Amino acid sequence: MNASLSTVEETTPQASNAFPDRTAQPFIKWVGGKRLHHEQFQSLYPDALYQHRYHTYAEPFLGGGAIFLSLTSHIPFERILLSDINPNLILTYRAVKQDVEALIGILEDYTQRYHGAAADEQAALYQDVRDAFNQPPEDFCYTECSTQSIERAAQFIFLNKCGYGGMFRVNKKGFFNVPWGKHKKPQILDELNLRHVSQLLQHAQLTVAGFREFPIEKMDDGCFVYFDPPYRPLNATSHFTGYYGPGFNDNDQRELAAIFRQLDAQGASLMLSNSDPTNEDPEDDFFDTLYDGFAIRRVSALRKINSNFAKRGRKNELVITNYPTRI
Ligand SMILES: C[S@@+](CC[C@H](N)C(=O)[O-])C[C@H]1O[C@@H](n2cnc3c(N)ncnc32)[C@H](O)[C@@H]1O
Repeated sequence: MNASLSTVEETTPQASNAFPDRTAQPFIKWVGGKRLHHEQFQSLYPDALYQHRYHTYAEPFLGGGAIFLSLTSHIPFERILLSDINPNLILTYRAVKQDVEALIGILEDYTQRYHGAAADEQAALYQDVRDAFNQPPEDFCYTECSTQSIERAAQFIFLNKCGYGGMFRVNKKGFFNVPWGKHKKPQILDELNLRHVSQLLQHAQLTVAGFREFPIEKMDDGCFVYFDPPYRPLNATSHFTGYYGPGFNDNDQRELAAIFRQLDAQGASLMLSNSDPTNEDPEDDFFDTLYDGFAIRRVSALRKINSNFAKRGRKNELVITNYPTRI
């Protein structure tokens, strides 16, 4: 495998390989979401993807699913394995998959109530939904599709669209505590897109799982896996806790790299995104060492998490692949 290190600015894919327009979009806002990356990634995907040579697509840090949706809108896979550690997120995907019309009905109702309300009533509605979300029935089952789980999925989407910044943050007691986002007219429901997503999910397997449970044994050279773990903080003050779960430290990054190497040995095609520590410290070779021997690209990306405007701006992100890319 040829290691190569380069900086890639925004790239225009060759017209013959560009995907046509109609692409399903994430139905939630998600911190670290790759909604904007799809075009840039087209030069970084393996050629075999465009030749429809993979039978399996897997994404073990699903989040808002931007890459899953953009790829499967245009490329058929026999098997799609999607997972994330957040049970409420996966419950919501299951609801979209299994009863999208019931979900649309509840979201239409939320939309009417929210858009027709004054700001103080909007804040009160957000609080009511958040309270209800934090008090699921005692016998609530996260894995079965039921009236209760569809209702919970609708609450999840409502809180995501009306809360602050697409975060899913819980306190020590496990209660969702993201504040109201003060949005006047958020798009709570895009029903055409939601139906499209539902269609794409029909033969996807959705699992609540940490990355260590990824089914390595099922992977071979017919699989394309995209990893988008929580980014390694760029510095001590940029630590971000906007995801469900215990956080993601350097040891997790090392264990993930070991899984990457194991999958590479089994012949799967792999792509992984992460932050680039050399943005802050040119000497920090954490990922260069961890992924030594693989192709490490530095791509230009806009970071939106930092609430301090002065710190926003163009930084590089890493895209690591175990196959040669076009650029
Ligand atoms: C950067 S986000 C993925 C964003 C996604 N690619 C998108 O376009 O929206 C990282 C995801 O990893 C999940 N996550 C955090 N720790 C995890 C773990 N140990 N195992 C699996 N998933 C985890 C989070 O819940 C979050 O959804």
